[in-house]
Amino acid sequence: MVAQLIDGKALAAQTRKEIAATILTRTTQGFSQPGLAVILVGNDPASEIYVRNKRHACTEVGIKSIYHPLPDTTTEQTLISLIKTLNQDTQIHGILLQLPLPASINSDKVLEHITPEKDVDGFHPYNLGRLAQRRPLLRPCTPYGVMMLLNSINTTYKGRHAVVVGASNIVGRPMALELLMAGCTVTICHRYTQDLASHVKQADILVSAVGKPSIIKGEWIKPQATIVDVGINRLPDGSLTGDVEFHIAKEKAAWITPVPGGVGPMTVATLLQNTLTAAEQFQQ
Ligand code: GUN
Repeated sequence: MVAQLIDGKALAAQTRKEIAATILTRTTQGFSQPGLAVILVGNDPASEIYVRNKRHACTEVGIKSIYHPLPDTTTEQTLISLIKTLNQDTQIHGILLQLPLPASINSDKVLEHITPEKDVDGFHPYNLGRLAQRRPLLRPCTPYGVMMLLNSINTTYKGRHAVVVGASNIVGRPMALELLMAGCTVTICHRYTQDLASHVKQADILVSAVGKPSIIKGEWIKPQATIVDVGINRLPDGSLTGDVEFHIAKEKAAWITPVPGGVGPMTVATLLQNTLTAAEQFQQ
């Protein structure tokens, strides 16, 4: 049996369509258009592409995106001042600060200045704390998108063993909290984990967010597992690949996300959803 693909591109398109319809209804009721401030510091080429895609997706669903490109010489103080201004701006419902920031800037410190009501990335300690307490408000986009993918395939996750590989603040940690909230028994693997293979072999649900091609060997996959590959890695020939040895893994798994076309499109869709949620919940 070959695994079925979890089609992130299709689910993201459907989600964007629903968001666009909700925004249209709201604006015809007299509410202002949701507004997302997008801040990019420096000119990291990958970040520029991500930001362009996010802004394009905003336009498509009726979210006004206001772009703040800043030079890589920008100081922490200038960035914090901009965030404070945006926190007060009633036309802005979400603030996206694209990461990574230049090494001279303390990302954690700056991110804490984004008011939790406009924290559409869900990175603020308040929003992570809410997720840890099982009462999330704005949820980190990638893990939220992974949960939407898992929920789309009609399987129950209560009591199943989920293994998350990668423990970053952006993906791995909030991913584990999402799976815990869904009733999974959760194992988190990270750079100090001994015998990664033995953990992966037990995973009914495997989420890999490492960023290293083929770190997850196909032969480790438990028969009939659900595999979600968050890794997006560029190979020397220019093609994109995930963390998982896809061609071997798909022969053992029941469900698997492709790269590209799996988690990536959902990350943008959930950003739009969070911006709409922020506008709905906190519009003055
Ligand atoms: N850089 C890589 N992923 C992300 C993300 O989800 N949000 C932001 N703001 N920056 C990122």
